[in-house]
Amino acid sequence: MRDLSPREGELDPIETASLDELRALQTERLRWSVRHAYEHVPHYRRSFDEAGVHPDDIADLADLATLPFTTKADLREHYPFGMFAVPREQVARIHASSGTTGRPTVVGYTREDLDVWATVMARSIRASGGRTGDLLHNAYGYGLFTGGLGAHAGAEKLGCTVVPVSGGMTERQVQLIRDFEPDLIMVTPSYMLAIVEEMERQGIDPRGTSLKVGIFGAEPWTNDMRREMEERLDMHAVDIYGLSEVMGPGVANECVETKDGLHVWEDHFYPEVIDPVTGEVLPDGEEGELVFTSLTKQAMPVIRYRTRDLTRLMPGTARTMRRMEKITGRTDDMIILRGVNLFPTQIEELILGLPVLSPHFQCVLERPATLDTLRITVERRDQVPGEDAEEAGARLRRLIKDRIGVSVQVDVLAPASIERSVGKMRRIVDLRPKR
Ligand code: DLL
Repeated sequence: MRDLSPREGELDPIETASLDELRALQTERLRWSVRHAYEHVPHYRRSFDEAGVHPDDIADLADLATLPFTTKADLREHYPFGMFAVPREQVARIHASSGTTGRPTVVGYTREDLDVWATVMARSIRASGGRTGDLLHNAYGYGLFTGGLGAHAGAEKLGCTVVPVSGGMTERQVQLIRDFEPDLIMVTPSYMLAIVEEMERQGIDPRGTSLKVGIFGAEPWTNDMRREMEERLDMHAVDIYGLSEVMGPGVANECVETKDGLHVWEDHFYPEVIDPVTGEVLPDGEEGELVFTSLTKQAMPVIRYRTRDLTRLMPGTARTMRRMEKITGRTDDMIILRGVNLFPTQIEELILGLPVLSPHFQCVLERPATLDTLRITVERRDQVPGEDAEEAGARLRRLIKDRIGVSVQVDVLAPASIERSVGKMRRIVDLRPKR
């Protein structure tokens, strides 16, 4: 794989500024953002007043901890436009995340917000190894989901040639990759796997394509999955993180030269990690729930927004800004089985350690009697005989028991038995009766 490290002068100056410079900028921006939210969003005025805090009390970054959290429920309650801090006419774009039930969560952007988003997204693509002039195949979904349009604007800002393919029509994805010869692909890791399978079906060697880098996000994936992708595609696989409530893709991104966690673009999004139960701020290095405060957003500022994503913060390496570790999972996706907590990412790691099993799996929750049970359905790889796969299934069951501490059932299935996603993969299938 090629060395795609940035050259002298290619980065935004703030990416390599001193920590003091960064903290000074954040402090100034934090004070603006808190005041902006308080003065223009009735919800924030009420919640700050109730907590007995006022924007005048926010002198530095440590004071942030005195402010109340914002949750998805708060955004839903003010559906559709109640969290906007500017008149609707000044909102240039709306996005929404569907969620599984009920009202979607609506977010809005002014023209300047869209420009900031494109800037951090361009920075993310560059951190991934992309450059002006590269051809970028964008298979994130276009529409209300922030993935497609967010990545698109960043790629244009960086000066790439963008192919706005969106998700789906997998055969055509492969045809366009073969014919247009893109340097970069942006797609969820689970859909990338489906594209790789389609290449193989068409007799195209996935290692022989023009692709240099895959920029994968929108769902959790592990370092073991990175190895799988890099081996199968002979390209760099880099992690991109974001969420619509905070902006969209491009809140944090890995650097291709280090691949050691995602640098948070802290000049626009200030991260904290809290204990999800007590709400207490944890020191850097400890795992907990990630919380973001927007520092520059005009249309929809968010103050201490609880993401429900679990990770930890680490000092900067390739950039000054802090890194977050790859996301373990969302608190909502935590499976609690007979008192043991586990995440699909832990299962992914164990599966990928067994060469006979493929990365296509789901966690099926059932309640045949009074107790919950977990069944892992996982496909064997192509060309692998059934008996070997059965043996691998038994090994996986033992590994889960030994490493995670729970007994589960493992069903090894034939290739192509599990539904393929074109966007975010559904890892957990909950078949338990509703209470
Ligand atoms: O998924 C934005 C995005 C698009 C990010 C394309 C990256 C690439 P939402 O639909 O609002 O926005 O979902 C946000 O997805 O809170 C995480 O739980 C999860 N997520 C996003 N990126 C990652 C990642 C987009 N790299 C939610 N690793 C977040 C793990 C991720 N989980």
